[in-house]
Amino acid sequence: MTNWLYTDTVKDHFLNPKNILKDEENFQYDGKGITGNVKCGDQMMMLIQIDKEKNIIKDCRWRTYGCASAIASTSVLSEMIKGMTLDEAYHLTPKDVVKGLGSLPAHKIHCSVLGDKALRAAITDYYRRNDQKEKIETEDARIICQCMIVTDQEIENAVLEGARTFIELQEMTKLGTVCGQCKDEATQLLGEYIQKHFAPEKD
Ligand code: FES
Repeated sequence: MTNWLYTDTVKDHFLNPKNILKDEENFQYDGKGITGNVKCGDQMMMLIQIDKEKNIIKDCRWRTYGCASAIASTSVLSEMIKGMTLDEAYHLTPKDVVKGLGSLPAHKIHCSVLGDKALRAAITDYYRRNDQKEKIETEDARIICQCMIVTDQEIENAVLEGARTFIELQEMTKLGTVCGQCKDEATQLLGEYIQKHFAPEKD
């Protein structure tokens, strides 16, 4: 058998996930978010309870049909967000989640995206239900490859899902396969997103 690639924290959160929604549980939620990554077939649901006076997350539950890394990542995320303001929770990144886990193999980092995506959807749902539409952040994407209509957000997602070279990015998004004029900008963004999500933390 090959060596266990995961930290003890990952293992613990995978084997004993926190805040999972149990079948029989009637969890009263204020916001609900569902997201799925069609590529790996994972799906995630996040339910949040809000302290409306303080604007903080009181409690949460989640459920996934995801892999071990998605389970461990969401379990740690569900502990991190309790007591956070909605704004703080909305801006958590996969990097914060990975930090909470100690580390995660690079090819598994995209699995940690599921939990925070579902969390953002749940927060947005809460704002919608509570007439706070002005707080909803629209993730406005910019088209980088005009020929294949590929946005900067899709490039960032491809990096999170494992793209490290222009060829890999091209295989995953089809960007740059027609006139090639987007190549320089796409290469620059590729480097920026790798730096943003995978650069080691400075002490
Ligand atoms: S702009 Fe990307 S291939 Fe033409």
